[in-house]
Amino acid sequence: MSGSARVLERCDALARISEEPDRLTRRFGTPAMEEANELVAGWMREAGLTTRVDAVRNLIGRRGEGPFLMLGSHLDTVVDAGRYDGPLGVLIAIEAAQRVDRPLEVVGFSDEEGCRFGTAYLGSSAMTGRFDPAWLELRDGDVCLRDLVGDAGPAREDVLGYVEVHIEQGPVLERLGEPVGVVTAINGQSHAEVTFVGEAGHAGTVPMSLRQDALAGAAECALAVERIAKGHPELVGTVGRIEAKPGAINVIPGEVMFTVDVRAPQDALRKHAVAAIRAEIESTSRKRNLGSEVELLQEFGSTACASGLMEQMERAVERQGFPARRLPSGAGHDGMALGAITDICMLFVRCKGGISHNPLESISAEDAAAGARVLLDFIEHFAPLQR
Ligand code: GLV
Ligand code: MN
Ligand code: MN
Repeated sequence: MSGSARVLERCDALARISEEPDRLTRRFGTPAMEEANELVAGWMREAGLTTRVDAVRNLIGRRGEGPFLMLGSHLDTVVDAGRYDGPLGVLIAIEAAQRVDRPLEVVGFSDEEGCRFGTAYLGSSAMTGRFDPAWLELRDGDVCLRDLVGDAGPAREDVLGYVEVHIEQGPVLERLGEPVGVVTAINGQSHAEVTFVGEAGHAGTVPMSLRQDALAGAAECALAVERIAKGHPELVGTVGRIEAKPGAINVIPGEVMFTVDVRAPQDALRKHAVAAIRAEIESTSRKRNLGSEVELLQEFGSTACASGLMEQMERAVERQGFPARRLPSGAGHDGMALGAITDICMLFVRCKGGISHNPLESISAEDAAAGARVLLDFIEHFAPLQR
């Protein structure tokens, strides 16, 4: 079997490891994640790597001594996920690792999506000495994050660079008719959780003019997020989760929590949008007589890929017979955290219809092979940059 066929077969095998019977959901610290780590650790050992799991459950496969190139992506998924977002990069890296002879680590990051505790990039942040102690108190029902992790310790040293292969998760390469692209930068992002508190009441008896309906207020704000984000072509804003309490057909919602995700290539643009959304939340809360609270969960600035590594990647792309195309990443990646300690670089692989964070995620065998060949070529020619 070819290396890239094995990569796709392994993506299929990992897609069967889920918290839920009928769809792929594999969040940080769950038994499904432990099972995925064990399966991938076995593949890493077959590839000649020595494996370990660190204090925040990142899976690390190591070859050689001394300063090393780090490769990888994440093994956790969103809820009802596709099978390539994350695993593709880890599995292509394992294939490459067994064909080269230089010190390297392949990492399967444990919590890139943050879908369980709201801790996106926890795995990679811990590697850079930026584990936030406040995360220890976060809960998912009865489970406290503190019980899932050990002491993350200081930033990793001796990392010569970080390179990640990932599906594009957007339509640009497909439109261009090209299998791979070199990432220029990762857009910055802000994550917040908003709570509105009104008054629960009888849906049949309380006149409309006397209601403090928290869900109606949240709905108004969700539309405001959309309107504000539409105000600039490079800005995106999403309300992705909403929970209304008490949650019954005949009860006016007394309390609502919703999430806000805002992203942009320029940090100033994103911050301006976040301020505008905050102002909308305040005015909605005043107008509707609702209590409100905005908790900023996470903020990551836009992260540039190292120009010297982009050039090395472009040469690898061209040596493999493809045009060197540059494109930015609208999605977040562990490189945002790793950029604090090392030079980062990414290669995108075309995906069908640009669809991602969706079970319909799909890539062709030819494109997976192209990504694998370019990564191998990049590693073979990799020269660390002066920092
Ligand atoms: C990670 O997939 C993100 O961009 O949210
Ligand atoms: Mn991803
Ligand atoms: Mn993702």
